[in-house]
Amino acid sequence: MTERLENMKIITTEDYNELSEKAAKIIASKLILKPKSILGLATGSTPIGTYKELIRLYNEKIISFNEAITFNLDEYYDLDYENVNSYHYFMNKNLFSSIDIKKENINIPSGLAESLEKECESYESKIESCGGVDIQILGIGRNGHIGFNEPHCKFGSTTHVVSLDEDTRRANARFFRNIEEVPKKAITMGIKTIMNAKEILLLVSGEDKSKAIYETVYGNVTESVPASVLQLHPNVTVIVDKKGAKFL
Ligand code: GLP
Repeated sequence: MTERLENMKIITTEDYNELSEKAAKIIASKLILKPKSILGLATGSTPIGTYKELIRLYNEKIISFNEAITFNLDEYYDLDYENVNSYHYFMNKNLFSSIDIKKENINIPSGLAESLEKECESYESKIESCGGVDIQILGIGRNGHIGFNEPHCKFGSTTHVVSLDEDTRRANARFFRNIEEVPKKAITMGIKTIMNAKEILLLVSGEDKSKAIYETVYGNVTESVPASVLQLHPNVTVIVDKKGAKFL
């Protein structure tokens, strides 16, 4: 195990609510300073509270998404956008339908594209042509995955198609009727895409993530723990609740 690097700022919160409030404040301040912010968004249960808080700030007219552009991290392969488990559905339900973001400024990779290869290339170049992500929100998988970059992924990867790890499929099966329904493939921003974001906000909640975040922060930088690459990013803030911070 190595020493923690100074560039990772770690904020420990009492609980999930405080985590969500702190994360939303950071994103809100970006939007206030730069209304045309390019926001990198994540799915999973962890950012839901942050999105709720952002909606509250929007309803109170403290922030607006009117000029913001968003890029989501990932999407399952071959799930209709109306499927309740698709990340298109998730984002609409948990954030987009409740704020003033312009439809044309929302970007989520399509797992339905005829050519997934072309979809990956055009997703990547769209991020670049917008000037790159200003702040990327991330959750973390129990196995240290970020987006859908599973253990042993390549640090040099850009947006690509992945086969999902069994542990990830098991963890995500809670949202599906059974594990057989969990897609075996997904499309995800690569580690290089994520690392290109100017700023990263990693949200970690719950004891089942405590080992993954410990390895991310204190472990060796290794492709077997994808999130460990964040030690090499110059501007990372980790917001972790007390349960997640068990080993920190
Ligand atoms: C999925 C997503 C990740 C997310 C992870 C953890 O695999 N692709 O982006 O970070 O789940 O999700 P949760 O926050 O529900 O634990």
